[in-house]
Amino acid sequence: MAEYNLVSECVGLITLRNPPVNALSAAVRQGIVDTVQRALSDPNVKSVVICGQNGIFCGGADIKEFGSNMTGPPLIPMIHAIESANKPVVAAIEGSALGGGLELALGCHYRIAHSKARLGLPEVTLGLLPAAGGSQRLPRLIGVPAALNLITTGRHVTAAEALQLGIVDQVTDHNTVDAAVKFALSVAGRSLGPRRISAHPCPQQPDLDALFEEVMQKVRQSARGAIAPIACVQAVRAAATLPYAQGMERERELMATLFTSGQARALQYCFFAERAVGRWRMPSGARWDTSKPRPLHKAAVIGLGIMGRGITVALAQTGLSVIAVETQEKQLMEAKQAISGMLERGAKRRGVAPALDRVIYSQNIQAVADVDLVIEAVFEDIALKTKVFQQLSAVCKPGTLLCTNTSALDVDQLASETPNPELVVGMHFFAPAHVMKLLEVVYGPRSSPQAVATAMQLGKKMGKASVAVGNCRGFVGNRMLKPYIEEAFFLLEEGATPELVDQALEEFGFAMGVFRMSDLSGLDVGWRIRKGDGLVEPSTASGRSTRIRQGRRYSPLGDLLCEEGRFGQKTGRGWYQYDKPGSRVARSDPWLHSFLGAYRAQHGLVARRIDHQEVLERCLYALINEGFHILDDGIAAGPEDIDVIYVSGYGWPRHRGGPMFYANMVGLAKVLERLEHYQQLHPEVPHLQPSSLLRRLVASGSPPIHKWGEAIKKLHSQL
Ligand code: NAI
Repeated sequence: MAEYNLVSECVGLITLRNPPVNALSAAVRQGIVDTVQRALSDPNVKSVVICGQNGIFCGGADIKEFGSNMTGPPLIPMIHAIESANKPVVAAIEGSALGGGLELALGCHYRIAHSKARLGLPEVTLGLLPAAGGSQRLPRLIGVPAALNLITTGRHVTAAEALQLGIVDQVTDHNTVDAAVKFALSVAGRSLGPRRISAHPCPQQPDLDALFEEVMQKVRQSARGAIAPIACVQAVRAAATLPYAQGMERERELMATLFTSGQARALQYCFFAERAVGRWRMPSGARWDTSKPRPLHKAAVIGLGIMGRGITVALAQTGLSVIAVETQEKQLMEAKQAISGMLERGAKRRGVAPALDRVIYSQNIQAVADVDLVIEAVFEDIALKTKVFQQLSAVCKPGTLLCTNTSALDVDQLASETPNPELVVGMHFFAPAHVMKLLEVVYGPRSSPQAVATAMQLGKKMGKASVAVGNCRGFVGNRMLKPYIEEAFFLLEEGATPELVDQALEEFGFAMGVFRMSDLSGLDVGWRIRKGDGLVEPSTASGRSTRIRQGRRYSPLGDLLCEEGRFGQKTGRGWYQYDKPGSRVARSDPWLHSFLGAYRAQHGLVARRIDHQEVLERCLYALINEGFHILDDGIAAGPEDIDVIYVSGYGWPRHRGGPMFYANMVGLAKVLERLEHYQQLHPEVPHLQPSSLLRRLVASGSPPIHKWGEAIKKLHSQL
């Protein structure tokens, strides 16, 4: 709703009230319509100020209303009524003016912002465009190039940038409402014609066609199949080339297409899923709202290789003091230089002083005696990690949380080697750890709720999408990746090329196909794991039997490349070739193609034509099937957890919502039918065997994804 007060005798003050962000719900819109009407019809009122309660102007539309039938006054005529008012209306922007909130402010005649306020049109991130006139007014106000940048990226700008761009008229460090009231008094009676943004054409822009072509090309490239950024460009083009009324019509048409697209649903699902994973729960019944995190002041990182360096930076940037321990002197010196560089660059980007003195370096594990939390990032070797955990248990003060960044080792086994297993959790970061958004917080059966709550809160402070998951081989992300990669290998054996597989996956929307990704992260990583699992054998044997190992189909292709020293980008050769070691531009490699031909001949395999659909079905459905196993095992609490992991850590296209959401969109019955089809063709591939949970969900009528939780509980209780 909106509250009305008369202040300074002649200013109508309208305050939006809808905690937490004063979203434009039906009640708020009705409140605005009523109070504006009241102010305009009161002869004592000379001007109007609109503000929001609790230091926030307005966070935009009420997303919860999207799925339902809209009631209450629509936004567009409401904003029009404000713009065409014959008394000046001033927006007093504190906190944030986002989406519909900024569109409301653009309908006002003046905008005053607090210096700490942030403004933006983030609709594109929800698969939409600013469709309450935002796509038409913003370019008229600040010009086409700047508006395109804001609307197609959805980025938020500071008050200072908003002033520079011309979005706001004044920035204040003091009370924004007082400043706006004072301002409103000073402009009372002035002509409003020049202040009505919709009445103006966009500022002149030379070479408009060339500009739009260039932006469209850029957007298409970075959107990876997302349609909203493209619609945003089209809407701004309408603002630049059509009269306002026609532009609004175009905005409406484009929005209607987006609104009903599966992509908007997927992006909105991601928005809610990211919030849902913060409300974690463990099978023991421990939950986010009943488990109190421990306060943290000082942390330590053990092992300053690739991961330890990034983790140190991420910790220091949250304001913690960090003791960074590395046994190798040369590594320590290099790490110190690298960490300082990362901290300096990060501080420069954020316009703050680098936290260099927050990090203390040591070669001695004794230096961590008084820390509250340790993150271990030494080599992936269970004996070494066990030794380090035992040392830590002896050195650290009682109650220190011991976290491991292991990517595959058993967190529970490590915990059992310490006197206090309840203090042990996994904190699985992704490289580079100070950049990548994802953190898997891995709990074992004995991890205390407090340890999980502390790791989850720390992840949140680092700005990570933190997801609590159970302990199993590969946790959630890497466990699902295994069948995905294996299917890609099998497709090569059957006739595909790395180029074909990657193209299918990149057209689907992945940032990188599986082979380009494997070249980037290094083929040797998986080779080492497969060796550890006893899967790697001498390459001389041929025939079908050598491709069945430990009772299931196995492709030694990755091992053979490693034997050739082809580790990917770092050696300049992998599934592709590169100009030099470390170079990033992948080029097709004729050697690889003849190698695949020779391999097929040696093993009596006949290449067949494989299309994109088969690539997608086999790689993606195998990955999704593992996701169902994970849900059935209780390793992830719900499909949202899996989807957040894949969208924020594995390059799954956000506009497709994550693997489990995608399965729901495709239809569970179809996923099941295709898995059964491929399983019949490849009976020696267990990961194509449909999970029993998938079968049970289909048998119970394929409930929609938001009901899976209930269905899983019910299905379990029937066992
Ligand atoms: P790395 O080989 O780059 O670094 C390990 C560092 O630990 C080396 O500098 C080594 O000198 C140091 N170290 C060994 N023993 C030590 C001890 N007793 N005390 C102090 N320092 C010691 O390894 P990386 O890649 O950073 O991996 C570390 C851990 O993170 C592993 O468990 C790995 O599985 C995991 N991980 C790695 C990811 C990656 O992309 N590289 C991703 C996620 C997890």
